[in-house]
Amino acid sequence: MIDPTPINESIRQASPALEAALSDLGRRAIFPPDIPFQAAQARGKRYNATIGQITDGAGQALGLPALAAGLGSLDSEDRNRALLYSPVEGIPEMRRLWRGWQRRHQSDLPSTLPMVTAGLTHGLSLMADLFGGADRAVAVPAPFWGNYRQTFHLRTGARIVSAPVYRDDGYHCEAIAEALAGEPPGEPALAILNIPSNPGGYSPTVDERARLKASLLAVADSRPLVVICDDAYAGLVYDPEVPAESMFWELNGAHDNLIPVKVDGGTKEFCFFGGRVGFLTFPFEPESDAAAALESKVKCLVRAAMGSPVAASQVLLLQALRDGEVAERVESVRRLLLDRHRVLDAALSGVDRRLLRPLPCNSGCFALVELASGLGVDADTVRRHLLEDHDTGLVAVGDRFLRIAFCSVRESDLAEVVERLQRGVAELGG
Ligand SMILES: Cc1ncc(COP(=O)(O)O)c(C=O)c1O
Repeated sequence: MIDPTPINESIRQASPALEAALSDLGRRAIFPPDIPFQAAQARGKRYNATIGQITDGAGQALGLPALAAGLGSLDSEDRNRALLYSPVEGIPEMRRLWRGWQRRHQSDLPSTLPMVTAGLTHGLSLMADLFGGADRAVAVPAPFWGNYRQTFHLRTGARIVSAPVYRDDGYHCEAIAEALAGEPPGEPALAILNIPSNPGGYSPTVDERARLKASLLAVADSRPLVVICDDAYAGLVYDPEVPAESMFWELNGAHDNLIPVKVDGGTKEFCFFGGRVGFLTFPFEPESDAAAALESKVKCLVRAAMGSPVAASQVLLLQALRDGEVAERVESVRRLLLDRHRVLDAALSGVDRRLLRPLPCNSGCFALVELASGLGVDADTVRRHLLEDHDTGLVAVGDRFLRIAFCSVRESDLAEVVERLQRGVAELGG
């Protein structure tokens, strides 16, 4: 095994807090100088006899006709890229263009060239590998996307610390800080910011963001804090007064002890759910030693689990990123969801509060409703009743909440979905 001390030292030089937050695995991980490393060094040489991919001997894929035909609209260079191995860190042009996309509203703050992951879930699991581990506290605003339990707790033994974020009909900005208050001072911690949120469909207002940021800076006064910005639903904000930019930028460089990491990807942002192209981005300059050290660690873990990321879907995402009208295309999806959100909001505002309480929702793909207390019925019973008697599927979140995915229901059907939900709850507990 190669000694990881020098690259850990590069991370420490850039950010002692980030180095302190590394897990045992994160500390040990370093990209080995084996086949992909040596093949990358041989790229472009007259004779490249390094990598185990079958070509014509001059770098061109021997794509089976059916596969090549499936990629028929691509030019020959992209078709070739799609059929051959991707570099472990991702296809360079696509990484550069995604970085440009991430930075389209600002340009001053440092951010690495994003590392490609197999969807956001894989990016989150890499974060868990690097910074999780036995008993590491991970504060998560609740209710939250349940898969965090699998990625952080089940896989690495990290401890999910639930931070209830809805209080008195509003957003509780200090939830994470309060959740971590009992942790031993000096002990590194993780926090997950999922804005817009799943399952809540909420993004904080300008004032709430300021308070949230201040509370996170206060946490960082007493411990290294890695803030994972899960930007799965980036940009899907329906209130013009509410900021749509990732908190990654606001937290970037704000405190020596606070390191934001951006987890994002084409899944929801570009409606490319099946493509499984995600990204991990750190708050350092692309050419810095810290960026190289973190890239080495991430590449080591990607290589260990999946070899290299899928090339064909990266090439497809690349086509979208090269499209001069991509921003308009993404905006037209946002506008479609904005219309659905407006209709759903109107329907939910009319529900009987003795049965249901809609939680504030201004963004994302979902709205959350809470069952009124004292009904004597739990969310999963309502969910099953809606399936069996009302031909309607919602998701139960914990005992008290139901999630409506308005991203996947026609605008004209949303009022009926709410009507059925209300009727179903009334039949069970009204
Ligand atoms: C909050 C959140 N993070 C991450 C993901 C995972 O994204 P992907 O499908 O790209 O793995 C989802 C998917 O539903 C999500 O809701």
